[in-house]
Amino acid sequence: MIGEKTMSENVSGDPQIQTQAEKKKVMLSGIQPSGDLHLGNYLGAIINWGARSDEFDCFYFMADLHTITVRQEPAKLRQRTLEQLALYIACGLDPEKNTLFIQSQVPAHAQLGWVLECYTQFGELSRMTQFKDKSEKHKDNINAGLFAYPSLMAADILLYRPDYVPVGEDQKQHVELTRNVAERFNSIYGDVFKIPEPYIAKTGARIYGLTTPDSKMSKSIPEGCVFLMDDPDTIARKFKRAVTDSDTERCVRFDRENKPGVSNLMNIYSTVTGKSFEEIEKEFEGKGYGVFKPAVGECVIDTLRPIREEASRIIKDKAYLESVYKNGAERASRVADRTLAKVYKKVGFVSLK
Ligand code: TYM
Repeated sequence: MIGEKTMSENVSGDPQIQTQAEKKKVMLSGIQPSGDLHLGNYLGAIINWGARSDEFDCFYFMADLHTITVRQEPAKLRQRTLEQLALYIACGLDPEKNTLFIQSQVPAHAQLGWVLECYTQFGELSRMTQFKDKSEKHKDNINAGLFAYPSLMAADILLYRPDYVPVGEDQKQHVELTRNVAERFNSIYGDVFKIPEPYIAKTGARIYGLTTPDSKMSKSIPEGCVFLMDDPDTIARKFKRAVTDSDTERCVRFDRENKPGVSNLMNIYSTVTGKSFEEIEKEFEGKGYGVFKPAVGECVIDTLRPIREEASRIIKDKAYLESVYKNGAERASRVADRTLAKVYKKVGFVSLK
């Protein structure tokens, strides 16, 4: 649970890398701008980021370095990175209170990434589900970056000494690997890295595709994926076509195994409205899927409408976005460079200063 530990447990004992900001607990997460943001990203991750900026020192970034493990169209990648920044802000992340930045603009990520590759084992990387999935999907381009991806992700995290990393369930394995790499490094060099905890919410951590309730919602199946920038008609249509279950009972009841489609819709409804599964079952008692599916669609439309409108406004203001990411890169670099300098010193690199 967030907030359980006392502050003193999370304050670095090393004055060299302790900053004013680090006195608060730290939260960090990132999303790849490899596709448009979708409801899975929102309910699995972003929804847990917002509204914490008073309590935590928050770092959120566009993980663009990670995207080129799969071929990207350069112009589209640039456009999506800026759109993602606009969406972060539209989702309620105030750039004054949260450090919002683009990963490639903070060189320490790639620099620490290399060091950590040398402290990550081949066997560990071979076991990563995301590597197995992506190398299956992109058989013609199983590159070294795709394999070493989790070491870079470990660097993304460890640079900022976060207490919590709020992610969806599919990223838990990478955060666990990060913890192992950090512990290994610390056991050799002393207390360099803080050991982060994944923060995975009870609902929303795994949103399944609307047309494929047995696999996670993802941009690769667009008809079952609700994008944050989808207009209300499109969202309504996607929910109307959502796969429900062929059981005879046709009632709204949570049963992940036997009613995966309905359970997924209930999970979405519950995460968006805050209602429990029991409350939802009661609300739709005797009403059937014909009423339930559009109701879930409506609540998603209502949640996403102001986000889409605000993001569309912000994306046009290029000067504002530039000021946000420049400021973000500066703030992030200040923290990241300190950690990197300490790591370089520990492993024995000669310092310029
Ligand atoms: P990515 O870009 O695939 O996804 C971003 C976030 O969205 C969550 N997510 C989901 N949650 C619930 N249901 C879904 N269907 C769903 N799809 C995606 C993911 O769990 C994630 O939290 N490697 C990371 C990006 C990354 C990162 C980091 C994250 C790079 N460096 C450092 C945290 C910290 C990734 O590929 O996430």
